[in-house]
Amino acid sequence: MVKGDIRRAFTYLESGSVLLVTTNDGEMDNVMTISWQMVMDFSPHIAITTGDWNESFETILKTKECCLNVPSFDMVETVVGVGTVHGSECDKFSSFGLDRAKAKKVKAPVITNCLAAIECKLEDYIEQHGILVFKGVQLWENLDKEERRVIHANGDGTFFADGEFRNLRNEMSQWVPEGSERL
Ligand SMILES: Cc1cc2nc3c(=O)[nH]c(=O)nc-3n(C[C@H](O)[C@H](O)[C@H](O)COP(=O)(O)O)c2cc1C
Repeated sequence: MVKGDIRRAFTYLESGSVLLVTTNDGEMDNVMTISWQMVMDFSPHIAITTGDWNESFETILKTKECCLNVPSFDMVETVVGVGTVHGSECDKFSSFGLDRAKAKKVKAPVITNCLAAIECKLEDYIEQHGILVFKGVQLWENLDKEERRVIHANGDGTFFADGEFRNLRNEMSQWVPEGSERL
């Protein structure tokens, strides 16, 4: 992976990709799957919804950071596997063949098999709804990966890949911030 411009970090998520959320509790790395996620602005602020049935949740509240990794569609079985066991039950990285690299601004690792990874700092926790609000502080991009499609979840155990692509950047120019164009 190579460092990318944080101004285009949100473009990996705005279409609604399933994510692999990595954490480090000071001793061990962990990873969980998240499909409830939302881009909130261009800065980027990104929200996920989760709770105390996941071990990662406690780690995020404690460390106030994580990495949001964007898996490609060829990783869909891995993503489901990661989301069906707890970190205390097995080493999910070796069990699911996930490769790690050190992040720059957080202790949670970057998953180098993914299309992109966004290092994030926790800014807010809305307890009533289990919403964690993060600020992305560093983008990593895997520009060599052949599979460019992200994973979309229907929420019923079925998944689909991106379909047709259209470039309407000129028409959208008032809403396309400088530096956000995907490579
Ligand atoms: C496709 C998929 C999507 C998921 N999305 C979410 C989600 O948005 N929020 C959540 O709290 N858990 C979600 N999960 C469940 C967690 O990933 C799961 O509980 C995981 O095992 C937690 O790992 P941990 O206990 O090691 O943190 C999802 C699982 C799958 C398979």
